[in-house]
Amino acid sequence: MLDNRVVLVTGAGRGIGRGIAQAVVAKGAAVIITDIAENSAKETEALIREEYNTEKTLALAMDITQEDGIEKVIAAGVEKFGRVDGLVNNAAVMVDSGPLLDSDLQKRTKEIDVNINGIFNCSKAFVEQVIKQNAPAAIVNVASHGGVRAHVFMGHYSSTKAAVLNLTQCQSAEWAQYGVNVNAVCPGGVHTEMLQAAAEAKSAGNDKRSATELRETWVPAQLGRNMEAIEVGYVVAFLLSEEAVLVRGQSVSVAGGIEHEAVQDYLG
Ligand SMILES: NC(=O)c1ccc[n+]([C@@H]2O[C@H](COP(=O)([O-])OP(=O)(O)OC[C@H]3O[C@@H](n4cnc5c(N)ncnc54)[C@H](O)[C@@H]3O)[C@@H](O)[C@H]2O)c1
Repeated sequence: MLDNRVVLVTGAGRGIGRGIAQAVVAKGAAVIITDIAENSAKETEALIREEYNTEKTLALAMDITQEDGIEKVIAAGVEKFGRVDGLVNNAAVMVDSGPLLDSDLQKRTKEIDVNINGIFNCSKAFVEQVIKQNAPAAIVNVASHGGVRAHVFMGHYSSTKAAVLNLTQCQSAEWAQYGVNVNAVCPGGVHTEMLQAAAEAKSAGNDKRSATELRETWVPAQLGRNMEAIEVGYVVAFLLSEEAVLVRGQSVSVAGGIEHEAVQDYLG
């Protein structure tokens, strides 16, 4: 599906980003594994090289809020692989969780800087490279279920993710002319460090359940089990591929059907 593609993934040192990096390699791509934490990017690279018996990887430190660093990473990717034709804007933060009235502008600004402006920075540098290549390319932005409806005590995070969905539509509209297809995914709960932090924040808020009990309620009933990061990655891989050419500017729910009822909801 992604043979001969070169895909850059941000925040790929752990969690969903690592799963996306694994999935794109499983589907044939070379991968540029980036993270603000260089060690964790290298860990993902070691894991992928062993698991998929491949050398088509490059692991580099990259902070998505720093434009210079992004350009250098893209240049390094082009030097190693000849081009870069896929970008997955996965890295994000949830700096503050709790009531909005207890928060402040500094914390909100940090989330906007990473979750929205980081996507703008990476996408701009990527599309400038794609224009030089003059060949089809794709971007997938990782938004969230929290971007579609309010998540209590995650107000900053939730609202940045809503912005990502609109940014996706704007990028799609502007960059189709350069052969770039842009879509977003909205994952539900995948058990990562970020999800753990969200569960703890809600549990410490108005909810009497423990973080672990709360997380159990986020298991999609139709699926009957937790979602895996690599399963989010398989959907991302499809959206990066030529097979997804008719899907443009969309936000695709990757939440195991949690938005809908399941017969299981009514079974004792
Ligand atoms: N886990 C979930 O349940 C869930 C649900 C919906 C959406 N998401 C989204 O999926 C994506 C990944 O989430 P996750 O749960 O794996 O989070 P995570 O916190 O486990 O991993 C995020 C990664 O991003 C990196 N990062 C943070 N700031 C960065 C920066 N400025 N530059 C580069 N890298 C940076 C971190 O070092 C980390 O490796 C995020 O966009 C998140 O909003 C997660």
